[in-house]
Amino acid sequence: SKGTYEHYMLKEIDEQPNVMRKISQNYLNDDGSMNIEPALLEEMKKADRLYIVAAGTSYHAGLVGQNIFEQVADVPVDVELGSEFGYHMPKLSKHPFFIFLSQSGETADSRQVLVKVNELKLPSLTMTNVPNSTLSREATFTMELLAGPEIAVASTKAYTAQIAVEAVLAKALGMAKGLDDAKKFDVKKQLALAANGIQTIVDEKETIKKLTADFLTDQKDAFYIGRGIDYALSLEAALKLKEISYIHAEGFAAGELKHGTIALIEQNTPVIAYVNDGVGASHTRGNIQEVKARGAHVLVIASQKYAEAGDQIIIPEIDELISPIISVVPAQLIAYYASLARGNDVDKPRNLAKSVTVE
Ligand code: F6R
Repeated sequence: SKGTYEHYMLKEIDEQPNVMRKISQNYLNDDGSMNIEPALLEEMKKADRLYIVAAGTSYHAGLVGQNIFEQVADVPVDVELGSEFGYHMPKLSKHPFFIFLSQSGETADSRQVLVKVNELKLPSLTMTNVPNSTLSREATFTMELLAGPEIAVASTKAYTAQIAVEAVLAKALGMAKGLDDAKKFDVKKQLALAANGIQTIVDEKETIKKLTADFLTDQKDAFYIGRGIDYALSLEAALKLKEISYIHAEGFAAGELKHGTIALIEQNTPVIAYVNDGVGASHTRGNIQEVKARGAHVLVIASQKYAEAGDQIIIPEIDELISPIISVVPAQLIAYYASLARGNDVDKPRNLAKSVTVE
């Protein structure tokens, strides 16, 4: 039930610290061991490439996971849209392993890929919030997201849960391979930081509500920009905004602006810039200056490590690899308040269904 909440979406945003703790308790033991099926790790160790297949928000969680698996488990990763991949399958690697990311476990676009993967007798894992779902039953292995039922059409806690479970699995795989990078990645500590960091952001709701009114009232377009991990995040931030506020929003790699998109910047165009990615930070600062010079109204969401005076939202300490778990939360809240201000049906946006069971 919604309890005292007016909308499921806000309730689900607020639940995210608990979801992080639940994932940690379920998968990570105090002695450092992990509750992951040994057969799953054995199978994944044989893989020369992981193919993450998903749609929408889950696809965006896959883009974040790609980086984590490559860094922590030293395996190349492709992230694929089910609707594209199934019918335009590229030449696969010699020993592929498939990961299906799906909150509902029912997404038809992903399922048609799984049917083909099974015909080819290739190994697969479904990460889902619904343990007895179709994708869960038909894959070789399953991992639960443990986010609890997600009712609002706009996915929030499933996205952060997917990133957390990807991080857990990457750690386990890297440890199974005996990798130093995996030893250094303290996933238990990181999930604790994630829980605390999300809490800090949700406690700043009123500030974010005011920023939303300041930046997005009467605006038709908005842009999210970032580099590296923040680029992946920008895609999700923009999707959240467009699907419930109906503001036209795009997520861009900050470096791509000057290759075309910057032509759209006018006096007062909202540009929300993420600065959590260390390698990209100084270049993104340059891009912020470029759009400001053309009239953009810039809101900066920066990690405390790279924050500068004037940045409006500060992201508490966390490993960059999983930083979207915290830094997506301001975008979820911005979307929520923008939708609310427009009088939209926040939990049931027009034209959308919670689970998309047609291709
Ligand atoms: C956006 C949203 C959708 C879903 C997509 C995949 O907020 O919820 O983009 O992420 O339809 O759904 P699942 O994860 O159930 O496969």
